[in-house]
Amino acid sequence: MISATKIVTNKTTARQILTQVVPRRAVLAMPEYYPPLAGRNALRLDFNENTFSPSPKVLERLRQITAEGLTKYPERAGVERIAAAHFGLAADQVLLTNGVDEAIHLVCAAFLEEIDEVLISTPTFFMFEVSARMMTAHLMRVQTDASLEFPYGRFLAAITPQTKLIIVASPNNPTGAVVSREHLLNLCAAAPQAVVMVDEAYYHFFGETLFADVGKVPNLLVARTFSKAYGLANLRIGLLAGNAELIKYVRKVSSPYNVNGVALDCLPVALADEEYVYWYAAQVNAGRTRMMDGLRTLGVDFFPSHANFVLMKIGIKHAELVAAMRTHGVLLRDRSSDPGCDGYVRITIGVEEHVTRGLAALKESLQEIGWAK
Ligand SMILES: Cc1ncc(COP(=O)(O)O)c(C=O)c1O
Repeated sequence: MISATKIVTNKTTARQILTQVVPRRAVLAMPEYYPPLAGRNALRLDFNENTFSPSPKVLERLRQITAEGLTKYPERAGVERIAAAHFGLAADQVLLTNGVDEAIHLVCAAFLEEIDEVLISTPTFFMFEVSARMMTAHLMRVQTDASLEFPYGRFLAAITPQTKLIIVASPNNPTGAVVSREHLLNLCAAAPQAVVMVDEAYYHFFGETLFADVGKVPNLLVARTFSKAYGLANLRIGLLAGNAELIKYVRKVSSPYNVNGVALDCLPVALADEEYVYWYAAQVNAGRTRMMDGLRTLGVDFFPSHANFVLMKIGIKHAELVAAMRTHGVLLRDRSSDPGCDGYVRITIGVEEHVTRGLAALKESLQEIGWAK
């Protein structure tokens, strides 16, 4: 058997010589995330994506991509200037990333030492945990109570002098719960030694943002994705905004080519077509009301969501419901293994027709599995 290390001693030193490659301890200990993406040739109400399409103007831009264009390395800086201006920010306050996933990863890489603490509330987006644990074992989780609301008082009390990074998604995934601007700014003030990253991936379905505080609050970072309302999940593009000093460090640990040129070509067009994004958000907001009304009629409890999904309390038949819905051609996401979410299943809200199909399949599936509260 090959042992990973052997001890070599000479007169003055005892040192370990590695006889096989091992990763950092944090990498060995960190959790893995394998989203269940196989076999999604159905109505995708499982991953909170846009269920329909990006702006037709983006599709038009895609058709103009040339062979020569594909041979070039992507140029991020010009598009960053356009995106910054669109959001009323300076170019050095913005970094484009390979989705918010990469923004989280880069923030952890830029700011965390092994001894630092990261503070999150659970349940939340699992990538916070994956990226934080990549750097440090000191991930502090504040669990919501049965209400699933953000546990503001206990969260504030959990800040310590060792807290170096706080990540809060508002609206949160998988609950759809939100945190007020006042509470988020209080967190920034209570932890001046920490980066406070507010993940606004679902901003368009809620409408409140901390963008106006970017640059004014020195330790605030705000992340936005183009995977949801803009319908560009497959292009992998997100945006991180913050004061220029913080962004400078995150940029330093990013590859200059982290965002592909196709995504960079499409972003200005997607941003300019505001009408389309408002239309899509309006579809979702109307659909969410219809879904929540439908759930009340069916007797299914749920968390009142501010995002493009609703977390339903199904109970012991959660897996049966997901399987039954699949036979109706509709994918849902079982969230039962999330902390505090036993028996919960999440349904994405899309355009009108998709909500109608989702609701109809839900009604039939609940009947088929003999569901009762
Ligand atoms: C809260 C939250 N942040 C970020 C993401 C991922 O965003 P992106 O596709 O930009 O990596 C998700 C995806 O589900 C999410 O729920």
